[in-house]
Amino acid sequence: QNKNLLQLAINKPYESVGKDAAGLLFHLGGSQLIWNVINGKDTSLQNNLLGALASVGSKESVDMLQTIALSKKYGLSLRKQAAHKIGNSGNGEDRVLAILKNKKVPAELIPDVVASVSGAWLGSVRTEAASYLPDNGKSTTGKPAPAMPQLLALNANGAEGEKIFSANCNVCHQINNIGYDFGPKLSEIGSKLPKEGLLEAIVHPSAGIGFGYEGWVLKMKDGTALSGILASKTETDIDIKFPGGAHRQLKTSDVVSLTQMKQSMMSEGLYNNMSTQDLANLLEYLERLKKK
Ligand code: HEC
Repeated sequence: QNKNLLQLAINKPYESVGKDAAGLLFHLGGSQLIWNVINGKDTSLQNNLLGALASVGSKESVDMLQTIALSKKYGLSLRKQAAHKIGNSGNGEDRVLAILKNKKVPAELIPDVVASVSGAWLGSVRTEAASYLPDNGKSTTGKPAPAMPQLLALNANGAEGEKIFSANCNVCHQINNIGYDFGPKLSEIGSKLPKEGLLEAIVHPSAGIGFGYEGWVLKMKDGTALSGILASKTETDIDIKFPGGAHRQLKTSDVVSLTQMKQSMMSEGLYNNMSTQDLANLLEYLERLKKK
């Protein structure tokens, strides 16, 4: 079924089924099929496949994104796209910090590699990555968010906002079944929050954490730690989910401690990567998502 898995990954890169298909391909010895597409000429197939690879988060998939990004054999635009995706998973975040530290990333790709960890919930990961930017990241981190009147003064375009959403948000939120299941679904968010509330949710995610979407840190008996949202918990079993929609089933007896995080699992500072116009477009798109 490897050929079918490849098709699924290419056709549904931003849905969990596409990501799962790509992940399975690695397990089933199908990575050569992925390479064939990457080494081929069809850029739209390449783009889709990179989209599916982004949140697989296995060592093999992160290796592949790194190889594509760092190999001079590929065109700059493909390399930049791969670079933009290396840090999209827990494994990928560690890799981003490692290759930045080892000076493996050429200057022209550093901003893309740094941007790839913009969804990391740990502020320290984003800050450390940003410190490798040419200006130490000063121009992009910690800038104040635009105020509502400034945003309302712009001519906002919802269709453009949808693209901003796909690039920055759908790794954790689904709208009409597109995107990954981690945070709350936003298909009807426009009926719940006006633009002001949406802006607040983006700029200060930790100010009001949605019930059932709190983040937890789990210390495990083997010394490792995990953080994510608890999808379910019983006396014996825990199902924890991660950005990108991945789940892990754990035995409660393997967990030493469970601590609720004070911060939201939604990253602070997502607006830092957006222009004021992008943000206005994003709010316009979200506000129009009403109950049918
Ligand atoms: C790393 C995962 C992650 C990313 C990336 C992310 N979010 Fe969230 N978001 C969450 C989680 C988890 C919650 C629920 C906890 C909370 O309320 O803080 C949430 C809550 C929200 C809410 C409040 C929903 C409600 O019903 O009240 C909105 C609105 C929202 N996010 C919009 C966005 C937008 C827009 C983006 C992209 C700019 C984005 N999120 C990116 C994880 C994420």
